[in-house]
Amino acid sequence: MKLTIFGAGYVGLVTGACLAEVGHDVLVCDVDPARVDALKAGRIPIFEPGLEPLVRRNLAAGRLGFTLSAADAVAHSDLVMIAVGTPPAENGDADLGHVLAVGEAIATHMTRPVTVVTKSTVPVGTGDLVEARMRAVLSARGGAEWGDDAVSVVSNPEFLKEGAAVGDFMKPDRIIVGAASERATALMRTLYQPFNRNHDRLMVMDRRSAELTKYAANAMLATKISFMNEMAGLADRLGADIEAVRLGIGADPRIGYHFIYPGAGFGGSCFPKDVRALRRSGEVTGYEMPLVAAVEAVNDRQKHVMFEKLATALGGAEAIRGRTIAVWGLAFKPNTDDMREAPSLRLIDAVLAAGGTVRAYDPAAGTATRALYGERADLVITFDAQEALDGADALCLVTEWQEFRVPDFGAMETRMAGRIIIDGRNLYDPDDLAARGWRYSAIGRPQRVPAAG
Ligand code: UDX
Repeated sequence: MKLTIFGAGYVGLVTGACLAEVGHDVLVCDVDPARVDALKAGRIPIFEPGLEPLVRRNLAAGRLGFTLSAADAVAHSDLVMIAVGTPPAENGDADLGHVLAVGEAIATHMTRPVTVVTKSTVPVGTGDLVEARMRAVLSARGGAEWGDDAVSVVSNPEFLKEGAAVGDFMKPDRIIVGAASERATALMRTLYQPFNRNHDRLMVMDRRSAELTKYAANAMLATKISFMNEMAGLADRLGADIEAVRLGIGADPRIGYHFIYPGAGFGGSCFPKDVRALRRSGEVTGYEMPLVAAVEAVNDRQKHVMFEKLATALGGAEAIRGRTIAVWGLAFKPNTDDMREAPSLRLIDAVLAAGGTVRAYDPAAGTATRALYGERADLVITFDAQEALDGADALCLVTEWQEFRVPDFGAMETRMAGRIIIDGRNLYDPDDLAARGWRYSAIGRPQRVPAAG
């Protein structure tokens, strides 16, 4: 079937390429000329494993196209997805400017009834808002001839993980459809039929529930992480090992092993923003949400833990002045170059503010980090992991890229000036490192000092 997607960002691009891959005819519209040109040439503006070949293949097959023209995009189909950004405003609210502008553009150009699907993560009630705006534009156009059926807005949130988005889209756990009309539901069934072969993944519900499902899912996952980070902080103080505790509780299927890894705090484009937006929804409706507020507060504190551990290892925050600190892993998680709300930023800022020099390495996010900080003498970005260690007094590991899992400790010893590792992802064996002569500090694990002699 034919469909249109507004927004060639992360969600729009993955959605468009995957829907084209299963045979649909997809036209993606974006306002950025450089982006559209690059995409037409098969160049992908984001880092996402597997996406580029998918885009190229479907471009070549003529099932995927890109345009700058909203009029052409709307003319292409009567199923239009909105996948534009909803950046957080100052007060934590999701900024709906782009979403509403697209709704208005659709209403301006449409020449027949249209089903509009919101893919962007939007606060509960946005579907109503988009529909009302579109109807207002339509009636101003004098185009009320299609009656109540003119516009039908469906909520169809995505649950993609960066770095695994293509696989997530192709093999969804569930497809949430919040629709108000039978016609819209039937269209969504046809659209997603190729993903529904063995099990019916489609869950149809009212629009507000669909919108809330997205926030509730992300907030639940964020809650698990913050809970574990809080437990890790307690384990640190009690001399317990959170890794043993993690295995112990994960064995209970009611808890499970997923998303209970303590770490340097969660980042990314979704969790921090969605938890904040959910808290704001509580504020706006006059309903207190202490749990959601705590998830945010705990994460904020957790992002500072790496620096605290570093300062302790070096003998106090003042001792960081004039020292060189190596940082491995900058992106908010592996397999992406996304720096949004990355815990590494908090660590780097704190080290720089304390007068230290940072030598940082990331397999993908070096350039993005350079763009954030600009050229400065106290922040060296290397494009090789070992090079980042040259002369370093300590190494802080913030993001668990595969290539950090089994490093060459012998080579590290010769490159570094000190033998301190602060591990924000609990990748190494504390006893092994102590035996090798390292001072090793992880998250929620008893600290090891080098074996005597
Ligand atoms: C998340 C959701 O998983 C996805 O369903 C939703 O559509 C968008 O938000 P994403 O932000 O890409 O996806 O990353 P995810 O893999 O979920 O990780 C989020 C953050 O949590 C990362 O900073 C990660 O390091 C952290 N995390 C994750 C932990 O600290 N511990 C864990 O156990 C899991």
